Amino acid sequence: MSYDLIVKGGTVVSASDTFVADIGVADGRIVAVGRIEEPGRKTVDARGKVVLPGGIDVHTHFDMPFMGATTIDDFSTGSTAAVFGGTTSIVDFAIQRKGKTFRHALDDWHERADGKSAVDFGFHMIVTDFTEARQDEMDKLVDEGVSSFKLFMAYPGIFMSDDATILRALMRAKDNGGMICMHAENGSAIDVLVRKALAEGKLSPEWHALTRPMTAEAEATHRAIALAEIAGAPIYFVHLSAGDAMEEVRRARERGLPVFAETCPQYLYLSHDDYRRPGFEGAKFVMSPPLRPKGNAERLWKGLARNDLQVVSTDHCSFCMKAGTNQPGKELGKKDFSKIPNGAPGVEYRMLLLWDAVQKGKISENRFVEITSTAPAKLFGLYPRKGHLNPGADADIVILDPNRPHTFTVKNHHSAADYNPYEGVTVKGSIRDVFSRGEAMVEGGKWAGKTGHGKFLKRAPAFLGGSVSASQL
Ligand code: URP
Ligand code: ZN
Ligand code: ZN
Repeated sequence: MSYDLIVKGGTVVSASDTFVADIGVADGRIVAVGRIEEPGRKTVDARGKVVLPGGIDVHTHFDMPFMGATTIDDFSTGSTAAVFGGTTSIVDFAIQRKGKTFRHALDDWHERADGKSAVDFGFHMIVTDFTEARQDEMDKLVDEGVSSFKLFMAYPGIFMSDDATILRALMRAKDNGGMICMHAENGSAIDVLVRKALAEGKLSPEWHALTRPMTAEAEATHRAIALAEIAGAPIYFVHLSAGDAMEEVRRARERGLPVFAETCPQYLYLSHDDYRRPGFEGAKFVMSPPLRPKGNAERLWKGLARNDLQVVSTDHCSFCMKAGTNQPGKELGKKDFSKIPNGAPGVEYRMLLLWDAVQKGKISENRFVEITSTAPAKLFGLYPRKGHLNPGADADIVILDPNRPHTFTVKNHHSAADYNPYEGVTVKGSIRDVFSRGEAMVEGGKWAGKTGHGKFLKRAPAFLGGSVSASQL
């Protein structure tokens, strides 16, 4: 056997096991795991290091127009940040414009990503206008590898779908194998609270959170689960933030329903207190759902360990605080919190933040691999091509140095955002090398890749004739 690459002697971590082994790569795929005696064209010494499957972040917003601005990371800077953070695949959200076809949105997002992305990329479709014609088009998209669709129960007038539309989408997804991804917040109730706050002159960033209570998320989660149960379809909750919403997911799963959820590092590491930072600094953390009060994160950590939550993604949606080179930033809402573009950068920080949680005993190293790579691959039709390091998989390999600390700061991150939500936080571990389909992207912490290396990922409908069953997750 001739190997293009051998990763030698590292501690390989999978979703179920930890063992010392060599990994042999040929033609971009893993072909051997074990003891390899033959030489490879290139050998990387991984002794004393941790060898992981490349991170899969199924929730990014690169180059996305939203709330009067466009996210500051395009597919070039966003995917570069992803690679440096140990993430080798992303699934980004294309947006259907009202009155327009899904095809139109897909072409638009291909234009944004093709030839620019350093990491392999797939698309979810954000559904804003689900007419009869779009139902047929949804089937076609699934066939073409865009097998998941995000609907919103929030942002009335922009993205929000009513219950009838949500039910129709779920029913269609049941038949075509698509996965409905839900933004669960009661947008109508939130709208009332926002208008009242503004009328009372409550304008600071903290009011973003005070007008989006946990109950609005828990209620919408409960309602969406009921609609999915009526349709007999699986459902996946994006950016779940509230312990009470997680309880709804836990109860549904206990009843055997195919209900899944992701949370994001910001809900595990940051809190409502961050909105009380001096001046306008709280705007850095304006996102929806908002950061929750202290104590909530401990519930989410427990939920992650118990598999009430299956995935940690980032919801990377970066805006600058000040106007960027060509974009307005968070300052759009300086005098009115409801105008602050929602979202924060995250794609580069996820793997190391969660690895730190392994060091602190919150989750096991195997659970770490499951929630950052294996489970997202299974849920979104990328398994068995991605999400593990067994022979046959794409050689997306991350080598982490467990003894070299990393400090998060705007000075060393690769996002174009002008702030880092975790500024000054030091974690135990750093990303040393990253390979995507066997090609070096980062070596010794330095860029070694090609922009535009990333390929479009045609994803399978995960639970329809796929290689995964809902009960495995
Ligand atoms: O605040 C957020 N999460 N911005 C991105 C859009 C979304 O809802 O995911
Ligand atoms: Zn959302
Ligand atoms: Zn999002």
